[in-house]
Amino acid sequence: MSDDVIDDLLARASDLDARSPLSGTRERFVLPDGVIYLDGNSLGALPRTVGPVLARVVEHEWGDRLIRSWNEADWWGAQTRVGDRIGRLVGAAAGQIVVTDSTSVNLYKAIVGAARLRPGRRVVLTDPASFPTDLYLAEAAARVEGLEVRRVSPADAPQAIAALGPDLAVAAYSSVDYATGELWDLERITSAAHDVGALACWDLCHSAGAVDVRLDAGGADVAVGCGYKYLNGGPGAPSFIYVAARHQDAFDQPLTGWFGHANPFEMAREYVPASGIDRLRVGTPPMLSVLALEAALEAFDGLSMADVRAQSLSLTSIFREAVATLGVGLALATPAADRQRGSQVSLRHPEAFAVVQALIARGVIGDYREPDIVRLGFAPLYVTHVDAVTAAQQLNEVLDSREHERPEFATRHAVT
Ligand SMILES: Cc1ncc(COP(=O)(O)O)c(C=O)c1O
Repeated sequence: MSDDVIDDLLARASDLDARSPLSGTRERFVLPDGVIYLDGNSLGALPRTVGPVLARVVEHEWGDRLIRSWNEADWWGAQTRVGDRIGRLVGAAAGQIVVTDSTSVNLYKAIVGAARLRPGRRVVLTDPASFPTDLYLAEAAARVEGLEVRRVSPADAPQAIAALGPDLAVAAYSSVDYATGELWDLERITSAAHDVGALACWDLCHSAGAVDVRLDAGGADVAVGCGYKYLNGGPGAPSFIYVAARHQDAFDQPLTGWFGHANPFEMAREYVPASGIDRLRVGTPPMLSVLALEAALEAFDGLSMADVRAQSLSLTSIFREAVATLGVGLALATPAADRQRGSQVSLRHPEAFAVVQALIARGVIGDYREPDIVRLGFAPLYVTHVDAVTAAQQLNEVLDSREHERPEFATRHAVT
């Protein structure tokens, strides 16, 4: 491979960075020198706004104002305030999203609540390749409601939904596949579910903040998503749950904690759900994490999701081009077509784990997913086109030199 070809690609990458509507948004983040961070689909980078806000919250709102901050600083309203802010990124009008619990817990609430809106129907449909927690919680929801889970790829979901007809209660799918990065058609699967009178539940973990999701326009019924991936809320940031306004008053979610009560401080002996999205709350939220997520979302200020999505596609496409130009001989697990691609590129290699470790040692941080996936996430706000081309070069060098075969890259830790 001549150096000229790569020099040309790098020059084009640099030009794309300079001309991008997101040019300069990387400065909104704290990123270590010498690191190309391609794991924002696992744990987003640290926005500069978060540290100062957390320091103020800890020292002033907690340290000084103590319990008074629930009212004075409106800690009480933070979960829906932050929910509305996320709504602007995922195409949901205000009053339909609350930040609460983990994605796993919210999946359970979402699927049970949706199934209860369709009594008498006995099937929950989901993707066999779902992130495991989605499968586990679909099974848990089905068990408690006396339903059956059927596993059908999203590619075949519209036909399966039509065949199930009045038996289908809920179709529960992920917008972007966590392993392959394939983007599924939310509107198509949702409308297939609606055609048979069923509801659609979406997991937005790998799309919120990177893909221009349109929950309201797409007709989604319920949805959940992560706060710590492309939304950059920090490790263990709370998740969010969306329930379309039209379903809220009848939504019978199973975890009836006091934060979802109509009048929590009445200390009533019987549960009465709050009206609106507030009924999806459960118990006292991790307020520091809720407020860290709120501060993190400022990184999206002034950006349109159309531009964020365009940047994401441009990054993944120049990375793919660089991989092809360099002749990196790995099979791509992520579809080539823009409309089928989320914000990551996954490549298959029999020793994918070791390849990822060797890349990390070179400062290119991605992650490994079973059984053979090198997973590289392109967070549009802080990954540049130059990063994308450089990462492809580094990957090529690792494979050419067989660096991944070094024994130190075989050691597995608890988190891969
Ligand atoms: C698609 C998907 N759903 C759910 C989760 C995790 O959920 P939780 O926040 O409960 O750990 C992940 C985490 O990577 C995920 O990729």
